[in-house]
Amino acid sequence: MHLTKFMLLLGVPSALAKCKCTPTDDCWPSTFEWKSLNSTVQGQLIANEPLAKPCYAGFSNNFTQCQEISKLYQDASFREASPIGYMYPVLDTCVPINGSITGNPVCDLGSASVYSINASGAADVAAGVKFARDNNVRLVVKNTGHDIRARQGYGSLSIWMKHIKPELQFQETYSPSDSSCQSTWNGSAIVVGAGYIWDEVYAFAAEHGHIAVGGADRTVGAVGGYLQGGGHGFASHDFGLAADQVLEYQVVLATGDVVTASACQNVDLFSALRGGGGGTFGIVLAATLKVYPTQPVLKHSLSVTALSTDISALLNVSVTILSKYPTLLDAGFSGYGQLERILGQNPAYSHSFGKLLAIDGSSSNSSSEIERAESLVNEEILDFLSSLNGTGFSVTSTFQKYDTFQDYFNSGSHDSNASNNPSPAMVSRFFDNDSLSNNQQNLSSMLEAIFPQSASQVQAIASLLEFCLVGGGEVLSPQPHTAIHPGWRKTYMLAENFDVPPTDSGLQGVRQVKEYATSTKLKAMKDATPVLGTYLNEADPNDPDWKEAFYGNQYSWLNSVKQTYDPDGVFWCYRCVGYEGWEEITGPMLYGPLCQTNEVGDYS
Ligand SMILES: Cc1cc2nc3c(=O)[nH]c(=O)nc-3n(C[C@H](O)[C@H](O)[C@H](O)COP(=O)(O)OP(=O)(O)OC[C@H]3O[C@@H](n4cnc5c(N)ncnc54)[C@H](O)[C@@H]3O)c2cc1C
Ligand SMILES: *[C@@H]1O[C@H](CO)[C@@H](O)[C@H](O)[C@H]1NC(C)=O
Ligand SMILES: *[C@@H]1O[C@H](CO)[C@@H](O)[C@H](O)[C@H]1NC(C)=O
Ligand SMILES: *[C@@H]1O[C@H](CO)[C@@H](O)[C@H](O)[C@H]1NC(C)=O
Ligand SMILES: *[C@@H]1O[C@H](CO)[C@@H](O)[C@H](O)[C@H]1NC(C)=O
Ligand SMILES: *[C@@H]1O[C@H](CO)[C@@H](O)[C@H](O)[C@H]1NC(C)=O
Ligand SMILES: *[C@@H]1O[C@H](CO)[C@@H](O)[C@H](O)[C@H]1NC(C)=O
Ligand SMILES: *[C@@H]1O[C@H](CO)[C@@H](O)[C@H](O)[C@H]1NC(C)=O
Ligand SMILES: *[C@@H]1O[C@H](CO)[C@@H](O)[C@H](O)[C@H]1NC(C)=O
Ligand SMILES: *[C@@H]1O[C@H](CO)[C@@H](O)[C@H](O)[C@H]1NC(C)=O
Ligand SMILES: *[C@@H]1O[C@H](CO)[C@@H](O)[C@H](O)[C@H]1NC(C)=O
Ligand SMILES: *[C@@H]1O[C@H](CO)[C@@H](O)[C@H](O)[C@H]1NC(C)=O
Repeated sequence: MHLTKFMLLLGVPSALAKCKCTPTDDCWPSTFEWKSLNSTVQGQLIANEPLAKPCYAGFSNNFTQCQEISKLYQDASFREASPIGYMYPVLDTCVPINGSITGNPVCDLGSASVYSINASGAADVAAGVKFARDNNVRLVVKNTGHDIRARQGYGSLSIWMKHIKPELQFQETYSPSDSSCQSTWNGSAIVVGAGYIWDEVYAFAAEHGHIAVGGADRTVGAVGGYLQGGGHGFASHDFGLAADQVLEYQVVLATGDVVTASACQNVDLFSALRGGGGGTFGIVLAATLKVYPTQPVLKHSLSVTALSTDISALLNVSVTILSKYPTLLDAGFSGYGQLERILGQNPAYSHSFGKLLAIDGSSSNSSSEIERAESLVNEEILDFLSSLNGTGFSVTSTFQKYDTFQDYFNSGSHDSNASNNPSPAMVSRFFDNDSLSNNQQNLSSMLEAIFPQSASQVQAIASLLEFCLVGGGEVLSPQPHTAIHPGWRKTYMLAENFDVPPTDSGLQGVRQVKEYATSTKLKAMKDATPVLGTYLNEADPNDPDWKEAFYGNQYSWLNSVKQTYDPDGVFWCYRCVGYEGWEEITGPMLYGPLCQTNEVGDYS
């Protein structure tokens, strides 16, 4: 019964296609082979079970456990603690509902890995890589599961990096692991193992009086997809992207060998892993990151809430605020803003920006620095907003000073929930100085397309447009040995829109919301900023121009590095470098077996 449903919903590869082995294939490794892998990795091989399996009829059905799972299901840390917990699953095929009575009895792994190695070091990682290669099994790398770009894997073996956590090391002055390698960096550094999340690294850096350049959310992994794909956050404007901070990496290659990648050794790999994206060049065990002495911070918090559910006037106000962003950023403010509409509620714009202040005791007069910063914000934004306060909008604005960067960070919550089922549709785009300062007409059209007036066009129950004011400043300085999308070096703001489909959408409904997001909302963003591209970690997975949009002119160079280090495609992920030549054969389920597309004799 189960198998029949499975066959109907998944795509079926043609008899000729050369595919990675899946559990329904004869070539899938035998129980004996898996057992032998398990002993190689010291008993740390996990046969995965869907998170909410106890909610469903059958052997593991347990009402108490199901209730506990339902309560924690949206919690990022709960998802992270599971070898197959993802914040944005391609499709949740085991939602925690009462599976004993509802009409949705399916509970299977879906796009999640069949087995995971709970790796504790290089040897486990290498054993997994070798096993996948020798047995033609699809391989997935999983850290926190914050992936948004569908880099998950039906029928795969996953290497779970979460528990690779050697003690964090602080180096007052960076000392390269290869002592013959001369570094130009004479500041401090932290050595971070693959399993740490930013919350832990921030706290450790703060104990040593330093700032690490990391993500806006506490639970994002420090060294995994985030770092290798670029990495923006509250400190990127001041110090550059997170990938720009990497001094060296320790990497397991497709051969299973462990190497150092730095400006002295494996330089091409080092450069590719500084912005070219995780999951495809090798598996990173640890990274050494630049850190900076902490500074006091001035925070500005603003909210502009419409006094009715009508969003049109708020869109107009938002365009004016957006046009002031470059001035604020050039004056040292950075952070995150958002425009949110939830069906039936009054829409609102809000932001929380911080400006790093001169270190106390240094030359500048801190109170005059604060005065100047506050009056700039007041002149640029508050003067015009105050005149609207009470007439159509409610406006609040506050300034607050923090003694250290960590105090500033901790003053916000930074805890995102895992997505509801189904996951939201996401689209994003880079904006430079000009596309914000001198582009009001186009920004208006963009906001109108993202927040359509006519109810019939509103397929999403909520839309959140996030303004990541994380560029400018040091992000604009090109660095040697990076593979960052060149568009980043012009970027002031990254805009990201999330559309939440109704819970009862069904596969067809979800597909519609996603198609609408790509064809209408992403297009409106592209019209407003046609050439810059977007951030590969937070991009629309369905962008038809993904190669150009995610990698810019870096793609062919990156692909040559990929071919050097992984010619057989042991590491493959969706729309990562090296994507071509492979395809997931998906039915309506959006996931399926991974097959080679270029058959010998296929000249199409
Ligand atoms: C709630 C939320 C908040 C976010 N906030 C930010 C933000 O502020 N700034 C920002 O820049 N991005 C942000 N992102 C995007 C984030 O950078 C990406 O989703 C990133 O890929 C997450 O990496 P991870 O290792 O934590 O997650 P995972 O899902 O575990 O990993 C993502 C991919 O990276 C690869 N990978 C993971 N670990 C390794 C490794 N050790 N070696 C090689 N490859 C590896 C794998 O291909 C994997 O599929 C956010 C995402 C979410 C869901
Ligand atoms: C691997 O071995 C350990 C220890 O013997 C065992 O607990 C675990 O269930 C095994 N994993 C699999 C997938 O068989
Ligand atoms: C169900 O799970 C709870 C909590 O884990 C446990 O105490 C209980 O024994 C389980 N019940 C059955 C019938 O297995
Ligand atoms: C789920 O349905 C079964 C069968 O009707 C019932 O026994 C059980 O109490 C229900 N559980 C919940 C959480 O409602
Ligand atoms: C994974 O391994 C770590 C030790 O490295 C252990 O603490 C943890 O419980 C393991 N997790 C699972 C799900 O096996
Ligand atoms: C560190 O490097 C900077 C920039 O190259 C230089 O100005 C500074 O004097 C150096 N400091 C030390 C202690 O060497
Ligand atoms: C939009 O805002 C501008 C000032 O920023 C104002 O002149 C104009 O009347 C507003 N238009 C609408 C439709 O509210
Ligand atoms: C610093 O600037 C403030 C405001 O401009 C001024 O009142 C104060 O006297 C200055 N302090 C010093 C030490 O210069
Ligand atoms: C807006 O008006 C309210 C109520 O009068 C007031 O409390 C608030 O401070 C005003 N906001 C601004 C930014 O002036
Ligand atoms: C996350 O979920 C919890 C519990 O459902 C809820 O109380 C909280 O408001 C949510 N947080 C965010 C940021 O959505
Ligand atoms: C951004 O644009 C403004 C106005 O066009 C200009 O004055 C400013 O210098 C630009 N900023 C940078 C860093 O180029
Ligand atoms: C809007 O975009 C178009 C095409 O990119 C451009 O020609 C036009 O100048 C832009 N309009 C404004 C007001 O900047």
